[in-house]
Amino acid sequence: MAKNTSGRGQRDLTVKVKTARGRKMSSTMWLQRQLNDPYVSRARAEGFRGRAAFKIMELDDKFRFLVPGARVVDLGCAPGGWLQVAVPRINALGEKSGKAVGRIIGVDLQEVEPIAGAEIHQLDFMEDDADEKVKEWLGGQADVVMSDMAASASGHKQTDHLRIIALCDAAAHFAFEVLSEGGTFVAKVLAGGAEGELQKLLKQKFTKVVNVKPPASRADSSEKFVVATGFRG
Ligand SMILES: C[S@@+](CC[C@H](N)C(=O)[O-])C[C@H]1O[C@@H](n2cnc3c(N)ncnc32)[C@H](O)[C@@H]1O
Repeated sequence: MAKNTSGRGQRDLTVKVKTARGRKMSSTMWLQRQLNDPYVSRARAEGFRGRAAFKIMELDDKFRFLVPGARVVDLGCAPGGWLQVAVPRINALGEKSGKAVGRIIGVDLQEVEPIAGAEIHQLDFMEDDADEKVKEWLGGQADVVMSDMAASASGHKQTDHLRIIALCDAAAHFAFEVLSEGGTFVAKVLAGGAEGELQKLLKQKFTKVVNVKPPASRADSSEKFVVATGFRG
């Protein structure tokens, strides 16, 4: 049950959500946060499948890796916000005449509604031969490997952190195998310590490695993104 509350004088537009019987406090908080999140309403208004779309938009506006003609792999692509942003930027549909036509392959555990210009595959990227399958679909090198993969939260901070690092690690090793020289790797990590080894490795393989928290990433989440550019090959 959600309602708009307005006080006297200054109007308070915060939507408050009452805890309903059977709904956990955490779900109530999540619902309240969703209803008051400007990125959620912006995503709805602009036709994006989720607020995550703005994270890749902000990262790409800063680092410019989604360029026309780029060959991209998007790991953990459901429901498809990053794909929606990438398709026009890389010119996957060939709509920008005179510009190179890009290609994007999305992979996720979950089924994803089709998106024109994106090739989507349902796959657990942690399966033994997953990287071989993606390499086969790719049929060559990639210019960008990006991963927003995240396992569902266990509620245990350290476990969640280790899980996300394992996903990021798998994405990075895949990137080392498929990236072309000068390529870019972007991945979600959680601030918390265990990512140090991965950062060290990335610094050996790329000319520049930075950690960024785009404005669209919730301030109360420990999520951040590592952006590694200039793959040494
Ligand atoms: C935060 S969501 C990604 C949002 C996406 N970037 C977008 O813009 O719509 C994280 C995704 O990672 C996926 N994921 C988690 N573990 C995975 C795995 N082992 N293999 C493939 N996808 C995985 C989840 O299914 C989930 O859809």
